[in-house]
Amino acid sequence: MDKIAVTGGTPLHGTIPISGSKNACLPLMTAALLTDQSFTLTNVPNLADMGTMSALLRSLGAEVTHDTDAQRMDLRVRRLSSPLAHYDIVRKMRASILVLGPMLARDGAGTVSLPGGCAIGARPVDLHLKGLEAMGATLDLRDGYVHATVPRSVNGGRLRGVSYRFPFVSVGATENLLMAATLAKGTTRLVNAAREPEIVDLANCLIGMGARIEGAGTSTIEIEGVEALSGTEHAVIADRIELGSFMIAPAITGGDVTLQGGALSLVSTLAEALDAAGMSVEDTPQGLRVRRRNGAIKPVSLTTEPFPGYATDLQAQMMALMTLADGTSTITEQIFENRFMHVPELTRMGAKIDIVGSTATVTGVDALRGAPVMATDLRASISLLLAGLAAEGETIVSRVYHLDRGYERVEEKLRACGAQIERITGDDHE
Ligand code: UD1
Repeated sequence: MDKIAVTGGTPLHGTIPISGSKNACLPLMTAALLTDQSFTLTNVPNLADMGTMSALLRSLGAEVTHDTDAQRMDLRVRRLSSPLAHYDIVRKMRASILVLGPMLARDGAGTVSLPGGCAIGARPVDLHLKGLEAMGATLDLRDGYVHATVPRSVNGGRLRGVSYRFPFVSVGATENLLMAATLAKGTTRLVNAAREPEIVDLANCLIGMGARIEGAGTSTIEIEGVEALSGTEHAVIADRIELGSFMIAPAITGGDVTLQGGALSLVSTLAEALDAAGMSVEDTPQGLRVRRRNGAIKPVSLTTEPFPGYATDLQAQMMALMTLADGTSTITEQIFENRFMHVPELTRMGAKIDIVGSTATVTGVDALRGAPVMATDLRASISLLLAGLAAEGETIVSRVYHLDRGYERVEEKLRACGAQIERITGDDHE
């Protein structure tokens, strides 16, 4: 398995291009299931998850071509040849559950393995299932699979529009039900819906296919079902989590970096936190420019929340920064249980962090020291890399396949700004 070696201590200077959003692209790819016509995405990132979702869609009957140089993906699902999303693919990526809503909407049937993905807490899919049930689907959970059908007695096998209130905010469940509702009979009202920019991007794409949707980006979304959707071409939005992660790089090392394709509007909550930590963050014609104002990193306390609150996917990176702050900060994780796996690894690098329940108290230290570290999820991995960029000596991050799920050419992008970072290709078994 590959590792990444980083020797810390070099302030970063330069420009980093921001790729298309992984989390927007995954649901967008599944939207191809809603039409038998050609469906094209541009600004598609070249990430392991895109390959996993392509494999899943192909197994269902999709033709998929990903031109990684052109960042373009062409998909076409003339018919669903198999309505079964197999465990072997689904276990690699939790977002696989997003095929269920579109399959049910298109053909009134779908079987999906219960998902895997990052090891951050239980992460059930009950909200997805309850919502689809409310829309008329009958579910049978057996052998690790969800077998879903819309009985003929319900509009001849077509989902029905409903008013559905999410008991709490879920990005994935909102996306699944939004897609399912586009082809349902009647009007669906999703209340307490997620407001993430990825939801708005998905809604815009669906509208381009002929869907009738109002309110995406607010907590109530109304969808009037239509008989059929057409193909479309849609450009994926920039990845605000990749952007946010790379914003923390010049903050932790010192230096001056411009994130090409980045804008304040995509990361306003993080920008406020970085401002409080002593960074200058400004929109420029070349992209979002981040540098230290001067002097020390100041402590900032934060709590993760659904958008527009502080993103859980940027929690580990901010914690890496706070390990070097001039004082004590608290970081509370409210979205996922067990999302502090980076803490013991940061501690091995010399960080001082105490966890009580879902709150980590971080006492800043003068310096981190390089160490061999490993992480068990995507965002924890990048936080260790960021810490390594600032640490004295060499840090070796193993299990790089987690990073490869969410960061395209990470070492190349950082090296271009002066980071001493190398990928070590290996075949050892961990
Ligand atoms: C998406 C993002 C992920 C991000 C998360 C929260 C993608 C591909 N992934 O994940 O990077 O960290 O939003 O911003 O877009 N929950 C349930 N039952 C459900 C669904 C969710 O209990 O049926 C819980 C989860 O365990 C979690 C919380 O709800 O505690 C939020 O999860 P959700 O917003 O659904 O996250 P994902 O869509 O999986």
